[in-house]
Amino acid sequence: MHDTLLLFGATGDLAQRYLFPSLFHLLRDHRLPDSFRVIAVGRSDHDDEDFRAWLRQRLDDGDQRDAEALEDLLRRTVYHALDLNDADAMAAALSRYADRPAVSYLSIPPNLFEPACLGLKAAGLLEDPSRLVLEKPIGHDLASARGINATLRANLDESRIFRIDHYLGKAPVQNLLALRFGNTLLEGVWERRWIESVDIIVAETAGVDGREGYYAGYGALRDMVQNHMLQLLALIAMEPPSTLDADSIRDEKRKVLRALRPMTTADAARDSVRGRYGDGVVDGQAVKGFRHESDVETFVALRAWIDNWRWAGVPFRLVTGKRMPARATEVVVSFRPVSHWLFERPSAERARSNRLRMRLQPEETIELGLMGSLAAPEWGATELQPMSLDLTMSPTPKRRIAYERLMVDALKGDQTLFVRDDEVEAAWRWIDSVSDAWQAAGVATRPYPAGSWGPAEAAEFLPGTLSGNGGRRP
Ligand code: BG6
Repeated sequence: MHDTLLLFGATGDLAQRYLFPSLFHLLRDHRLPDSFRVIAVGRSDHDDEDFRAWLRQRLDDGDQRDAEALEDLLRRTVYHALDLNDADAMAAALSRYADRPAVSYLSIPPNLFEPACLGLKAAGLLEDPSRLVLEKPIGHDLASARGINATLRANLDESRIFRIDHYLGKAPVQNLLALRFGNTLLEGVWERRWIESVDIIVAETAGVDGREGYYAGYGALRDMVQNHMLQLLALIAMEPPSTLDADSIRDEKRKVLRALRPMTTADAARDSVRGRYGDGVVDGQAVKGFRHESDVETFVALRAWIDNWRWAGVPFRLVTGKRMPARATEVVVSFRPVSHWLFERPSAERARSNRLRMRLQPEETIELGLMGSLAAPEWGATELQPMSLDLTMSPTPKRRIAYERLMVDALKGDQTLFVRDDEVEAAWRWIDSVSDAWQAAGVATRPYPAGSWGPAEAAEFLPGTLSGNGGRRP
């Protein structure tokens, strides 16, 4: 396990909210080597003590205080204020840390990836076996992603590049694989003959607040669908890998992403809805709408098609939005009705309640919807009723920040939960087809009140399983 972590973007929001708290938990739980050290790099002018004081205050506000582990983390942390465009300054400040294999973690905007690479190279920090970790977004379209990947490849081998998608570090997301490939009952029916549709929903109550600048250039399509949602789709739809090693899994995910049918101008109006939240009420609080001169969306609903043997003709509906009535990340797999309906009531339509519903956030629950006959019928036809089988894991595993697992894997060099260059590019190729189709077809961004499930036009994209709705229920 490498023991030197260089953290670029150390005073940023992500570092403050997730990266340092993850390190703090890992140290507390003795999951890091005794010699572990953090070299924090940021733009703001701090000396080591200033930075430690700042960090102490941020982490102290957290809910899981442990003074000793906190002081231990601070003792191991030094800070450098650096301009990443100045390779000489980077080399002068950082080359002393090249005495041991290091992991450099870039939690910085993508336009700084290239200069940061040059500075790290000059400091000797990209030599084998040192590694590089990158936060999303990897570009904003296929061309820019290719440019970034080419720069990375020119400086180090793909086997030492770790692209983070923090959804892959979430335990319930990993559980999708366990459920699918560990159970004959599920894998046997995991295909177009038995499955009618798949829904993937990531609803957030949070808004864009504080990130307007970044968000206006990305929107929900690029911020959420390109990475997290397509990774979920790939894990659900991929063929069984022959082993669980990183490249076997990534090969299968890439095949799914490449089989996504590009959206055409003709399909754009039928297969997508864009929305942007206006003023409204979320969790009982009045909130302001997102205002921006561009037509960037905070909500998107898409129907995606995977053109391969297993999934031909099965719609994958992807829905994500900010300022929804409830936070919910769900995957709903709906099975086809039985081939011949024997019962009079309810109608065959109701038998569509055969579905597997996996809620990944905020709580982790798994439910299988079946039809049954509960009460003995007093006369006449057997009456069926939808029932729900609770498959929720018990006891619920301890929640960890997704980044904890990913940090440890990057330090150990395990790439399984990181995204490979060709996956990123395949995902962008499809996203570009969607945004080009939107442009060509003039798909407008429709308003929706904060605290609703998106524009009315999106209702047909939402499964009837969501709850917590203050207003309209889909
Ligand atoms: C980030 C997006 O990648 O994921 C955010 O940039 C989004 O806009 C966040 O809010 C959602 O992550 P989580 O773990 O809270 O579901």
